[in-house]
Parts: sequence; C-alpha cells; structure tokens
Amino acid sequence: ATLKDLQSALSFLTTGAKALPEALSKPKVGIVCGSGLGGLVNVMREKVEFPYSDIPGFVNSTVAGHAGKLVFGLLGETNVPTVCMVGRFHYYEGFALTQTTYPIRLMSLLGVETLIVTNAAGGLNPAFQIGDVCIIEDHINLPGMTGNNPLIGPNMAEFGPRFPPMSDAYCPRLRRLVYEAAKKLTVPKFLHEGIYAFVSGPSYESKAECRFLKMVGADVVGMSTVPEVVVARHCGIKVVGLSLVTNRVVVHREIRSDPDAPAEERPVEEMIASHEEVLEAADARARDLQTLVNHLVDMI
Ligand code: 6GU
Repeated sequence: ATLKDLQSALSFLTTGAKALPEALSKPKVGIVCGSGLGGLVNVMREKVEFPYSDIPGFVNSTVAGHAGKLVFGLLGETNVPTVCMVGRFHYYEGFALTQTTYPIRLMSLLGVETLIVTNAAGGLNPAFQIGDVCIIEDHINLPGMTGNNPLIGPNMAEFGPRFPPMSDAYCPRLRRLVYEAAKKLTVPKFLHEGIYAFVSGPSYESKAECRFLKMVGADVVGMSTVPEVVVARHCGIKVVGLSLVTNRVVVHREIRSDPDAPAEERPVEEMIASHEEVLEAADARARDLQTLVNHLVDMI
C-alpha cells in the first residue's frame, strides 16, 4: 500500500474514464458496512459504484456475504456526499493490515472527515441481547498490542504522526449524536456503549478466551474494525463505531441441562457461534441500524 498506489486509485476515481461527478467526488462521510449491513446503500441516491476489483491497490475479498464494492452517493435528508464500503477486508483472509486498511487511506485522500464503521460482533456483556447495537466507546487491539498494528512499517508522514494517540479514538460528540439519532427514530431500547475487542479470527473464541476477554473489560468481540479505526485516526479522521450484536459468546465451564437456566448457562451446543447465525441476526436488525446511520449523517 504505497502512496503511489493510493494516488493512482484516487485519479482512477476522480479523473478516469468512469470518473465521479463533481457532486460526489469529495465525500464528507465514509462508511464501512459490516457483515449483512450493506443494505444501507439502497437508500443512497445518485449512486456510482466501483467493484473493488477495478480499483488500483484494492485486494479481493474472499468471504461469503461480503460483496465488495465502493459506492459513492448522497445520504440522509440533507444529501450528504458519502462513500460507502460494501464489504470489507479482514486480516483472517490472509491480507496484511496495510492492505485491509488501504480503503481508509483512500477515503482520507478523497477528503473524508468522518468515518462510520459498523460490524457484526459477539456479545460478551451479559446485558447485551442479540440484535442490540453497541456504540464503541473504546477498543482493545489485541493483535496490535502484540506485534500486528496496521501502522507498523515506515510512517506515512503525509497522513499523520509516527506515534498517533488512540486515547481519543472514538469521538464523544459523535457517540452522543448516535443517541440523538436513535431518539428521533423511536426505535426500541437497544443501544449500549462498550469496549470492542479485536481478535484476528477466523476461529471463534474458546470459552477460556471469552472469559479472558470479559476479564480484561471487553463487552463485544469481533474480527474487524479496529485496524480501520487506527488508520483513520492516524489520518485525523473522526470515528464512530457501531457493533451489531449477532450472537452471544460461550463462557461457562460446564454443560448444564436445566431448560429454565438463563441463556448464558444453557448447553454449549445451543450457543456455538456460526457464520450463518451471525448473518441471520445481522439481517433481522440491519434495517434499524441502517436507518440510524442514515439519520446520523444528517447530524454530523
Ligand atoms: Cl462470537 N467472535 C468473533 N471474534 N467475531 C464475531 C463473533 C464472535 N460474532 C460475530 N463476530
């Protein structure tokens, strides 16, 4: 992911044969749509789409349920020029984190000031139900803390400093605006705030790992988002992150067979995370999250 690649991607989008119209070429907001959350683009207007395979420097996503296109268009009631990633790149696909976060650097060059990242995540906090939304308040970058941070390598000084802080990664103002946007919608009470733990995947967590993550203060766990946030913050982009809780993680030590036991104590077999389960749950609550994001862009 060199500056040269990024510059050729930028000129491909803004001056190429299929160049963006003026009104869309300087998006203010960037959105990353998580698993099953790409439906947001259905409410965008004056759309121009670019398959990832056409964009210089983009790698090709390999996960089922992740289509893979960059969509430019107008969002919200106030026609906010927006660029939307439908499908993202994951570390577990075998890409370097510099590759998975390349689109964020491109967004920065396009002039994006605010990034809305969404994902499907596993719920660790027992108060979180399937279908709830967790506003990310902070993260635990496990791979990042142990040798795999997307900023490792020569600093791209054109974008930001060698040692960017992460203590202010998730904009408090934007987090408040999510609550405001939710009030407007009169959606049921399903909003939480919490800590997102990033793990590499692709295997889901063992029970002991889930207990470990709970112990260190994580509320949700997932295999994405944090590298994108780190790079966005390096670029000085404001960030708001939303996790859709698609399943609850398994943490108990023994198999209990009491049918009246609380959900987290039911037999392991009922609770094992599967990709299908994640996509199903995302599907059910995706519309609410999409409407929420659509209102949010008007308030930014
Ligand atoms: Cl349970 N774990 C991880 N790592 N990612 C997830 C998940 C669980 N559920 C959805 N995404």
